[in-house]
Amino acid sequence: MGCQAPEPAPLLATIDLAVRFGGFEAVRDVSIAVGPRAVHAVIGPNGAGKTTLFNAISGFVKPMRGSIVFAGADVTDHAPDRLARLGLARSFQICSIFPNLTVGDNIRVALTRDLSGWQLLRRRGRSDGLDARLERVLREAGLENEGGRRAGDLSYGRRRLLEIVTTIALEPKLLLLDEPTAGLAREDVAPVIALIRKVATRCGVLLVEHNLSVVESLATRVTVLAGGAVLCEGPYREVARDARVIAAYIGTPRNA
Ligand SMILES: Nc1ncnc2c1ncn2[C@@H]1O[C@H](COP(=O)(O)OP(=O)(O)OP(=O)(O)O)[C@@H](O)[C@H]1O
Ligand SMILES: [Mg+2]
Repeated sequence: MGCQAPEPAPLLATIDLAVRFGGFEAVRDVSIAVGPRAVHAVIGPNGAGKTTLFNAISGFVKPMRGSIVFAGADVTDHAPDRLARLGLARSFQICSIFPNLTVGDNIRVALTRDLSGWQLLRRRGRSDGLDARLERVLREAGLENEGGRRAGDLSYGRRRLLEIVTTIALEPKLLLLDEPTAGLAREDVAPVIALIRKVATRCGVLLVEHNLSVVESLATRVTVLAGGAVLCEGPYREVARDARVIAAYIGTPRNA
């Protein structure tokens, strides 16, 4: 026997997960495992089933087969709010914030999302450390000077940062990000990468991303989906050289 440390138990595992829409199988027997501090990327062509896989993991669509284990428990049939309470947070492919609220109030909503109406009434007029937490998350995202601005008036890049901040405000165990840099100007990508890197020091991140330089700089592991199934999995440098991945998705290698 060797003396290698045992692999840590995965934070999230899907086992032979399948999702069907009518007669069409959008996710086919997908098994992935995400470690507690990993940044795990899911890449693949349009329509490969990446968002559908996220929707199944986060409880928004019901899988037809297979199972999902999160933090040691079978959560296959859990609803999104129950998963969120267990520590599974997600963002959407379309940026979703409250544009008419201030930046600070968007985060306040996120920070109090898990409280019942009764708990909210009881804490009225008290800050309970809320302001300190608000300051901390604003600073972490570089939004400390924008807490009072209307969120809809921010640049698209800053709105995306705000959206990620609202998903991490409650300190999830696992964060699912669906194309966090989609549509961003080149100069807006680096702050998003920096924020994800910080977040990944305290929780797992599962990321769908088409920008391969973002994947390369962040991901500890990459799963390539094509036609709903896993084409291959491994570290980015191996996956990016795989002939099947180049043919199905990447095209000509960048350095060829
Ligand atoms: N609610 C639905 N009903 C029927 N078909 C759907 C539904 N949602 C997704 N699909 C189909 O499932 C397949 C996978 O879609 P999905 O959105 O998961 O792909 P994706 O990998 O996220 O693509 P993209 O990179 O374009 O975001 C596509 O063929 C899509 O048309
Ligand atoms: Mg998608």
